[in-house]
Amino acid sequence: MELQGAFTIFLALCLSCLIILIAWKRTNKGGKLPPGPTPIPFLGNVLQVGFDETYQSLMKLSKKYGSVFTIYMGPRPVVVLCGYDTLKEALVDQGDDFSGRGEIPSIDRNFQGYGVAMASGERWKILRRFSLTILRDFGMGKRSIEERIQEEAGFLLQELRKTKGAPIEPTFFLSRTVSNVISSIVFGSRFDYEDKQFQALLRMFNESFIEMSRPWAQLYDMYSGIMQYLPGKQKYLYNLIEELKDFIVQKVKINEASFDPQNPRDFIDYFLIKMQQEKNNPNTEFNTQNLITTTLNLFFAGTESVSSTLRYGILLLMKYPDVQAKVYEEISQVIGSHRVPSMNDQSKMPYTEAVIHEILRMTNIVPKGVPHVVTRDTHFRGYFLPKGTDVYPLIGSALQEAKHFRYPDTFYPQHFLDEQGRFKKNEAFIPFSSGKRICLGESLARMELFIYFTSIIQSFSFCSLVPPAEIDISPQASGFANIPPFYKICFVAR
Ligand code: HEM
Ligand SMILES: *[C@@H]1O[C@H](CO)[C@@H](O)[C@H](O)[C@H]1NC(C)=O
Repeated sequence: MELQGAFTIFLALCLSCLIILIAWKRTNKGGKLPPGPTPIPFLGNVLQVGFDETYQSLMKLSKKYGSVFTIYMGPRPVVVLCGYDTLKEALVDQGDDFSGRGEIPSIDRNFQGYGVAMASGERWKILRRFSLTILRDFGMGKRSIEERIQEEAGFLLQELRKTKGAPIEPTFFLSRTVSNVISSIVFGSRFDYEDKQFQALLRMFNESFIEMSRPWAQLYDMYSGIMQYLPGKQKYLYNLIEELKDFIVQKVKINEASFDPQNPRDFIDYFLIKMQQEKNNPNTEFNTQNLITTTLNLFFAGTESVSSTLRYGILLLMKYPDVQAKVYEEISQVIGSHRVPSMNDQSKMPYTEAVIHEILRMTNIVPKGVPHVVTRDTHFRGYFLPKGTDVYPLIGSALQEAKHFRYPDTFYPQHFLDEQGRFKKNEAFIPFSSGKRICLGESLARMELFIYFTSIIQSFSFCSLVPPAEIDISPQASGFANIPPFYKICFVAR
């Protein structure tokens, strides 16, 4: 009994020492970080954040700690930003301060700070400006990106017709066609749908996206310091991404062999031209590392995001057949059944636009956002974030904010329509994030979503194998990304 009491006192003493130590460390090194749950030394806030459904846990914490708080991912403090106003204040009003790319431990070893999506500072600015220019130039070339999407959508429709209305699992139908759009830009050509190497690549995309969203990857975000030395799934993901990089290396070799600076064919060629121009500059960012990683960033981000959104959207339209019917009605009125949908139709189709917005909102593809880091000592809302502090801009907290959306958890296209049925913008609609690091492919993505959704619905209705009311729309994994659940569907020709 006595011994037990002494032990308890001893424990309590230890614990208070630790708490004091942590509080001291936080004010000392961390300047004045926002408040948050008390971490366990080294283990951080794993008890509060968990490693499954971390986004939901963070949303719960924000109820207690407000719209700006600190959590410890293992030993590492991360400042969490919640709600549209907070995100705008940080990412837009203090855009430069918050423009760095934060740690993504599960893939950092593959990229090591190279490539447009993972770089920070001057390197990122140079790669971002260059990538945007090339994407824009392709839109104005002889053959516009829009035509390329229309053609590719045509190939998808052919494939769907071949299914003759039998049940299929749609993942690769969608990723093959979407991937070919960005492939035309970065590699100068599309892949044949039967191409074995292409299919292997898309399987790797699917797997890496899902693996990054599993609980082990969330645990890795906290304890990469130790876990990188242990066997397990992290090795598998690392190898997958290295394989994807090898594929790009091969593509670059092929380009180099037939390279003609007078006639650049694709993103890789334009990058090679820059490398040639700057070959005497030892500090140039136009080097092989950045070529390979940036090309992979565009290829991967350009494939998985749009194809997952299409896959989620089709599921939602299957669950809500009345919405699907209304979109079809609008297509019939504005486009008819013979002409291929084009971007000119968009402004005449407010209902369809509202539905696509609502699909992006509900898909909430990266609920925690992609991590940022402050690029210098930063004052924010009375707190002080030292240079190098990681930041999670919770995009989902804006997309599901009750202040901005009447039924935040419900698929409700009227969120984007006014009383007269006209399209209504919403400032909290930020699925592509906001500010300086806003998705580089936003306009390409919007074009693809409009042309694919309208083309598919113009030709097919979606038929579910279970009654619509029973369709479960909760994601099969939701760590880094919300991955749509597994489902089967019949595409029935109209
Ligand atoms: C539904 C489609 C898409 C969604 C919802 C989406 C969303 C996002 C989000 C949330 C970010 C992180 C922004 C941040 O750091 O705050 C991002 C970054 C990025 N996206 Fe997208 N994206 C989509 C499609 C695309 C496409 C088609 C491309 C192809 C060009 C692309 C290329 C990129 C790149 C390169 C970045 C990194 C930008 C940077 O770090 O500066 N995305 N995207
Ligand atoms: C995508 O990858 C996951 C994880 O490895 C796997 O379970 C799933 O079957 C894949 N999807 C398809 C359609 O093959």
